[in-house]
Formats: sequence, C-alpha cells, structure tokens
Amino acid sequence: MMTVLTERAPAKVNLTLRVIGRRADGYHELDSLVAFTGTGDWLRLIPGAGLSLVVDGPTAPQAGDGEDNLVLRATRALQARHHGLKTGAFQLTKLLPVAAGIGGGSSDAAAALRLLARVNGIAPDNPVLQDAARATGSDVPVCLHPRARRMSGAGERIGPALDLPPLFAVLINPRVAVSTADIFKTLALPKGETISGVAHTPVRAGLSRGELASLLADTGNDLEDPALRHAPIIAEVLSLLRAAACCRLARMSGSGATVFGLFDSREDASRAARMMHHHRPAWWIKPVVLR
Ligand code: C5P
Repeated sequence: MMTVLTERAPAKVNLTLRVIGRRADGYHELDSLVAFTGTGDWLRLIPGAGLSLVVDGPTAPQAGDGEDNLVLRATRALQARHHGLKTGAFQLTKLLPVAAGIGGGSSDAAAALRLLARVNGIAPDNPVLQDAARATGSDVPVCLHPRARRMSGAGERIGPALDLPPLFAVLINPRVAVSTADIFKTLALPKGETISGVAHTPVRAGLSRGELASLLADTGNDLEDPALRHAPIIAEVLSLLRAAACCRLARMSGSGATVFGLFDSREDASRAARMMHHHRPAWWIKPVVLR
C-alpha cells in the first residue's frame, strides 16, 4: 500500500516587527512577535526513491515547481546535513498568495522538513532541522514549529512558544507581489549599523487579551513605510480595514503586502471579511484565528 504523509503549511503573521540594525553580512537584525493562522498550503509526501515536486492550487503558477521552490531547497539543505536522507514525491497545494509577507514559501519549506523528519526518524527537536531551516531562509526556523513566538537575530533566534490568547483577525492581500530583498534595501541601513532606541517588544507568556492589544498598539512594523513606497495600494488596504466596524488594529505583516486587522470576536472578523470581499472581490481576504 502506498503511504502518503501530509502536513499543513500555515501562514505566519508578524504582529510586530522592529528593525534593530544591519549586520556585517548584510542581513537585518530583527525583533518580531510571530503568530500562526489555521489557514495555509498543504504539502504531501509519498516516500520513495528520487525527489520530485508537483505544485497545484490557485497560486501554483507564481510559486513554481523548479529547484528554486523552497520545498526543494529545504530538502537539499537537509540532504547536505543528513547522510542517506530518504526523500520521495512531494505534492504542494498552493493556496496562499506568493511574495506576500505571510511566509507561504517559508512555511512550505518547514512543512517539507517536518515530513522528511517523520520519514527518516529525525526527532522534531533535532538541531539538524533548525540548521537546514536556517540555511533555507530567514523565516523558515520560526515556521518549523508553528506557534506564537518571539523571533530575533535575522530570524534564526526563536523563543519558546508563547501562550497568547487567540486573536481574531482578517488577512488581506491586494494581489501585489512584494520582494522582501527590495523592501530591506529601501531601508538603506549601512552594514554594521545599529539603530539606537529601538525597544524590544516585551512579550511574555500568559498575557491577557487586553495587555496584548495595548502592547501591539505601542509597537509597529518598521517595514511598513518602505513597503508603502513600493506598493501604495497597501495604504488603501490599511485605511479600508481601519474604517471597518470593530477593527482594533490594522498593520502590515512581514515585508508586505498582506495586511492584518484585529477584531474582538470571530463574528466581527467574519463580518469585516465579507464586507471587504463585497467591495474588493479581486483581493485575497481570509478571516483567521492567530495563535
Ligand atoms: O533569508 P531570505 O532569503 O528569506 O531573505 C530574503 C532577503 O531579504 C535577503 O536576501 C536579504 O536581502 C533580506 N533580509 C534581510 N534581513 C533579514 C531577512 C531578510 O536583509 N533578517
């Protein structure tokens, strides 16, 4: 009988994102509170000889199925670190927008590592997985075990899972792809520079919903301004969300262009999503719970 293993690759949201400086290697030092949704791509693996990838789903054309796809890059990274790695045939169902600031590709890569770990008897906490994740991309380590966490360094330092109250949100992507490298470049920070006075987000476990809301309101996403210059439509998404009934906070995730709005209840979030969809039927709009 053929074995098919499945993993969900959930979207991530940067609830906060501070840029602390730029390292000598050119990467930016960050401090970010990351949470995950229940919505995402699906990755299946039929273990066997060889390695292949087919991609289907609505955003498959933008994701591509070549060696550049992060599923294959993560597999190559693990192959280089684990002798005789068993692989097989991957099937990726791509539902998330691509180059959207919600870690779709990174989460696909992390799902590939989890599947390969299962097939090869690699324990989930084996450092080889974090190592391969780091080598694949800055956002892959935080996606390996998708729970709300603090992420720092260039993305390689991951704090313990945080017990945050679930947040009711709407994600909106205006279907404009944004290049992460371009947004960081727009910051024009010289290598080795540290920005003084950037406070680390004081996240701790067990925050109440009210404490979390005021903490989030006091912080921001330092990539929002540069992203707005690249994709002015993000300003329209932000202002439409801010005008929606019961929206407590609207902010861009990652390097954009996806924006999230926070609401007090699942019903408020669903109502806002329906209203937005009515006004902008071409946009990608999803009510989600972040945790
Ligand atoms: O690591 P990843 O390939 O996902 O990053 C894409 C680009 O974003 C990098 O080439 C780099 O230019 C930029 N980046 C950065 N600092 C980070 C993460 C990404 O400058 N912490």
